[in-house]
Formats: sequence, C-alpha cells, structure tokens
Amino acid sequence: MTIDHEDAALLAGLEALLGPRGFTRDPDDLAPWLVDWRGRVRGQALALLSPADAGQVAAIVRAAATARMPLVPQGGNTSMVAGATPPAHGRALIVSLRRMRAILGVSPEDGVAIVEAGVTLSALHEAAEAVGMRFPLSLAAKGTATIGGLISTNAGGTQVLRFGPMRALVLGVEAVLPDGARFDGLSALRKDNRGYDLRQLLGGAEGTLGIITAAALRLVPAIGARAVGWAGLETPQAALGLLRRLEAATGAAVESFELVPEVALDLVLRHIPGTRAPLAGRHRWNVLVEATAPTGAPDPAGALGAALAQAIDDGLVADATVSASEAQAEALWKLRESISEAERADGMAAKHDVAVPVSAMPGFIESARQAVEARFPTTRVIAFGHLGDGNVHFNVRAPMGEDGRAWLAREGAGVSAFVHDLTVAAGGSISAEHGIGQTKLADYARLADPARLAAQRAIKAALDPLGLMNPGKLVPLAPEPPAP
Ligand code: FAD
Ligand code: MLT
Ligand code: ZN
Repeated sequence: MTIDHEDAALLAGLEALLGPRGFTRDPDDLAPWLVDWRGRVRGQALALLSPADAGQVAAIVRAAATARMPLVPQGGNTSMVAGATPPAHGRALIVSLRRMRAILGVSPEDGVAIVEAGVTLSALHEAAEAVGMRFPLSLAAKGTATIGGLISTNAGGTQVLRFGPMRALVLGVEAVLPDGARFDGLSALRKDNRGYDLRQLLGGAEGTLGIITAAALRLVPAIGARAVGWAGLETPQAALGLLRRLEAATGAAVESFELVPEVALDLVLRHIPGTRAPLAGRHRWNVLVEATAPTGAPDPAGALGAALAQAIDDGLVADATVSASEAQAEALWKLRESISEAERADGMAAKHDVAVPVSAMPGFIESARQAVEARFPTTRVIAFGHLGDGNVHFNVRAPMGEDGRAWLAREGAGVSAFVHDLTVAAGGSISAEHGIGQTKLADYARLADPARLAAQRAIKAALDPLGLMNPGKLVPLAPEPPAP
C-alpha cells in the first residue's frame, strides 16, 4: 500500500507516542492480525498499534480523527464474524488492546472486578477464583478472548441460561469515544438511572462507537460443587423436554445445557487428541448439562444422576453418565468446547448463529436441515450449541470431496441467505451471540427491520460522524438516495 505524506506524518507521530513495544509495521508482526479466526476473511492495515494505557488510546483516536484515519479495535481476534479484521481495501490502523491487561481491583464485598480491556476471560476467571468469587460467563476461546471484545460483541457462551450474556454482567465501562473524549463510567453502581446508558450502548457495538479501555464486571460467589452430565437421545425435542425435567428436579441448579449432534461429536473424536466417546453407544443427539450448588449445599451430582436415570426409565433418554470427579467433568466439557476447533480442522463451512424462541428450536433444527439439504444437495448440516437459550450454530459444511474454500466462495452467500431467510421467517435473529461483523452485514442490511436500521445509523452518525470507528462492520451504509 502506498503511503502519502500526511499518513507518513501520522505514523511517525504514533511511533513516537507508542515506542517500539506499541508500534509496528513489520509484515510478520501484522500477519496474524489481518485474518479472522476461521481464516476466511483477510484485510490490510498500515500499522498495528498496541497502546499501554487509556491515555495512549485517547491520543491515537484524536490523531486518527485529525488525519481521517479509520481504526479497527482488536482484542483476541477470535471474532466469528470477522469483526476485528481490517478492511480488504483502503487505509486503516489496528488498535490492539492486548497490552492493557491489568486487573485493577477485585472486591468480593461489592461482587465486582475492575479490569483493563485486554484482560483475557481466563485471567478474569482466575482473579475472581482467587478471592472466592467467579465470573459466570465462559466460552471455548476463553484463553484468548478479551474483556473488551466480549463486551463489544455482547458475547454469550455456555452460562447464559442462568446468568445472561455479557451485557447482563457489565456494571460499568471506561472508553474513548470517537472524538477522543474519555468516558469514565467505571463506578460499578448497581443502580444508576441517568438516562441513555452508554455502558449498554458500547456493549454489542463491535467497536463502531468507541474503544473500551476498562470495565467493571459483576461477580457471583464461587460454587461449592458441580456435576456434569452427558446424555444420548433421539431428537432435539427430547433434549428440550429433558432440560425442563432437570430444572425441576435439581431445584433450578442447571447452568448449562448444550446440544451436541452425533456428527459434531464424531468430528471432535477424530480431530482433537485426548478425547474419547462419553457413552458406550452412538446417539443421533447428545446433551451436556452442568448443575452447580452453592458452598454448603448438597452435591448436585445426586439429583442430576437420579433425574437422568428416571429419564432413561421413561424412555426420554437412551443412555447417560454423570461426572464423578473434576477430571471427568473437564473431559466432558472438552468434548463440547472443542467443536469449533474440530470443525475448523475438518474444512470450510458456512457458519450461522441463529436464535428462535426456545420452544420452536427443535422444530426449526429439523425443518431447516431438511430445507437446506433439499436446496443444496450433498451439503451436511451441523446444528449445535445453546439449546436452552434458543440458539444453535447452524453450520452447513461443504459437500464431501469438494474443495471447501472454493465451495464457500461459490455457494456460501447463497447458503447463508437461505438459512437467514428461514430464521427470520421463524421469528428469529440471524445473530444470537457472535454479532454482525463483516460476514453478516449484507444479510443484516437485507433483513433487518427498517426502524432498527435507521436508529442504528442515527446513533452511529451522532457519535462517530467521521465514520472512522471500525468501518464496514455492524452498521450497513444507508442506500444512496435516488437521483433527483
Ligand atoms: P475480537 O475478535 O478481537 O473483536 C471482536 C469485536 O469487538 C470486533 O468488532 C472488535 O472491533 C471489537 N473490539 C475488540 N476489543 C474492543 C475494545 N476494547 N473496544 C471496542 N471494541 C472492541 N462467542 C459467543 O458469544 N459465544 C460462544 O460460545 C463463543 N465461542 C467461541 C469459541 C471459539 C473457539 C471462538 C474462536 C470464538 C467464540 N466466540 C463465541 C466468538 C466471540 O465473539 C469471541 O470469542 C469474543 O467475544 C471476542 O473476543 P475478542 O477479544 O477475541 O474480540
Ligand atoms: C460455540 O458455542 O462453541 C461458539 O459460539 C463457537 C462457534 O460457533 O463455532
Ligand atoms: Zn456459541
């Protein structure tokens, strides 16, 4: 990319501001951050900026505004929708928050952790555990995904059933707004009714309204005991029936309820070393369920085991097991959490992250699978994930023997449009938890309610009138007005 005189001056100023640890243009340093986690979308950037504190973030944003330079905020770069991948064309700088990883405070009394945006989810879990608390949101990318990225995508994960998504756990944020102003909203109040809520506006904004530099997050008491169960059954409808039974039988101790089809389990067993089948036989569908108990309460394994045994007697479940140790619990979780990794190792798929009303999900999974496989013969659907939240990852894999990348380039957009049309027809959302990013932008523009789109564009224009914050993500450009 050629650099004009003004951009060269901007880059020289930023290099002087950030120093060698905070500024690089070396292509080898940049390479991993120019492509999304799935390896589908590639972009370009003039430099990778890694500020050390919020003051440096504000200085970057002000300098970029003066030079009309687009900025792409980036955390762990684990986005499933290429939200942190810079654009393929034009100028942009990546602003990585990964150096800002201080745990600023953890208070069991207030039930609050205050952390910088680049802290990983695993580091937050550890900091909370060290004081007898926990942060009740988890997902497979926890070792890499950062608090800034999780807030900016309003991430979900495997404990939404009980604790809600990221938005429900954010008490306050500190951020740099697109004009360079610093918003200090870290007060972590449990109640605060001063009108429009910037904290919630920045949540799920995918970096289009500013850069989050720190956050105050809700903690809950550590659990006393947990039990993880695995059950094999015939249909998603049986799985949902099982969830309601287990909730009743365990006194609402169920925290996670994840659907795993046989085909996803097969991929994990094939591609992920150290995994083994949890049950003796094969089952078209499986669920992983976790039940927890507070300190001092009876171990939930007893109630979970009894409820699963009853479900087998009643013919709802074919076979089941309950972890007898922490190691067994972890081994069962590994089967669930490795699905994305195994899918990636297996080849390309058109990925979808759909939500419909919980009770409609079993019917949707079956009817949408039939419709997709009829319309795109020889493709293979894998629907897995957060059944208890009415959200599955409804992925469509390339036909056997086809070059997956070529198939995705040729058919991907059509397959996704088809799946998204079915989702909207079922009253659902085309993004339950991953966001819109780049990969869903066209379908979002096509299918979103016009009033929602207009309001989002108005908010974007009001806060980022120059359109420099993560352009090309989340907010579709307004159509050109008709010629007079
Ligand atoms: P990035 O990918 O770096 O960025 C994501 C978005 O946030 C981008 O738009 C970026 O511009 C913006 N952003 C990042 N940091 C900031 C900041 N400080 N300020 C402003 N904007 C910022 N998601 C789920 O919801 N549930 C799951 O179960 C789940 N499982 C996953 C499993 C795997 C194996 C992987 C790879 C991803 C998974 N995800 C899941 C995707 C999920 O969106 C991310 O893991 C996480 O939310 C992104 O964090 P990140 O730090 O990697 O953000
Ligand atoms: C998951 O639930 O494992 C994820 O959101 C990741 C994916 O969709 O692949
Ligand atoms: Zn998910």
